[in-house]
Amino acid sequence: MIELTSQVKTPIDSAILESYKARVISRPNPWVGAVIVPEGADQENSEWILGHTQRYGGNHAEVEVINRAREIIGDQKLRKSTLYVTLEPCNHFGNTPPCTELIIESGIKKVVIGTVDPDIRVSGTGIKRLIAAGITVEFFAKKESLTTISMLLPYLWQKHTGRPFILLKLASTLDGKIATRKGDSKWISSESSRKYVHFIRSTSDAIVVGANTVRQDDPELTARYGYDEDLLDQPIRIVLGDISNDNKVIPCIVFKGDIETFFDYFADYKFQQILVEGGSGVAKQFLSAGMINQILLFMAPKIYGGQDGVSLFGGNGADLVENMGKGSFESVELIGGDIKINYHTEDTVKFINLVYELRQNVGLKLK
Ligand SMILES: NC(=O)c1ccc[n+]([C@@H]2O[C@H](COP(=O)([O-])OP(=O)(O)OC[C@H]3O[C@@H](n4cnc5c(N)ncnc54)[C@H](OP(=O)(O)O)[C@@H]3O)[C@@H](O)[C@H]2O)c1
Repeated sequence: MIELTSQVKTPIDSAILESYKARVISRPNPWVGAVIVPEGADQENSEWILGHTQRYGGNHAEVEVINRAREIIGDQKLRKSTLYVTLEPCNHFGNTPPCTELIIESGIKKVVIGTVDPDIRVSGTGIKRLIAAGITVEFFAKKESLTTISMLLPYLWQKHTGRPFILLKLASTLDGKIATRKGDSKWISSESSRKYVHFIRSTSDAIVVGANTVRQDDPELTARYGYDEDLLDQPIRIVLGDISNDNKVIPCIVFKGDIETFFDYFADYKFQQILVEGGSGVAKQFLSAGMINQILLFMAPKIYGGQDGVSLFGGNGADLVENMGKGSFESVELIGGDIKINYHTEDTVKFINLVYELRQNVGLKLK
């Protein structure tokens, strides 16, 4: 997890980092970060007040930060402060009352927002309510807004499309192999990469693997290394195909059939993020069905050195370059000697731009 450090230069960066603290605990609610900057304290982050969404059913980030600000700086100073928040404040009664009313009642005069919330119960109405109450509303600059949208993707995607967000994670050699010809894959990636995967598991509602992976590796598919401490429930484990009764993944759900029916089959579970962990046969099915939103690839500095290993995706690929899937690298970084590639598929890139453009519809003059 990213730690908030003194290197944070702006309240917007600070709000984005704060939101990470809610990533595991708040779902299915969005993981939101908020910062209150008292008048004249723009450069002095020691005076900023931080808050993030609490465990599902608990306080939203705005409530946390406003309550804290009342205690630390008092009502009078609060009225002259600016609130930075990564997601449009809610304007409806859910488990908690609308955040918009609390903001208005607090007397805060300016609110700076990361992105519109495409939840139909919000969808610009939170912003319009603040404007109607005489509050100045602005958005984060484009770069920071896109960062905010990217990190809220599973929530935003599920709210907008009604479908779960599919994250494919694989570990490969430099030459794109996820296992040797004998099926050996322990371990291609570094310990740091594998620990990070446990964090990703802790943010997922379900984990999917193929039967061959279970036969070969007998994985537990749980979030461990401390990431289980914040979890109400471990992710549901789903295996495609038949396995034996003594595999460690049991109890799990076995799914068999056309992958196109997968979402319908699991509709009642209301999954927000599904983590697909391979192998190549399963990865290929999700890819071919156009169901993958994001790929996290841990590429190790190892070379398999042949064609007979297990490739990232099974089956036949594209016949022409123009028919290849096209997406975009969201970020690339080194982790424990591996390269962590964070890739968004074409549909996801389009979706991010669509959410960004929602700011055009809220009646604000944009800079
Ligand atoms: N490096 C990594 O990140 C990574 C990750 C995972 C796995 N791996 C490695 O990859 C290898 C396994 O990959 P793989 O491509 O051989 O197998 P796989 O994708 O794990 O499993 C494929 C098998 O799952 C069953 N299956 C898949 N889709 C199904 C569906 N829709 N309905 C019913 N059954 C379905 C079929 O089992 P039946 O044969 O019973 O029909 C199919 O043969 C292992 O060596 C493993 O170690 C590496």
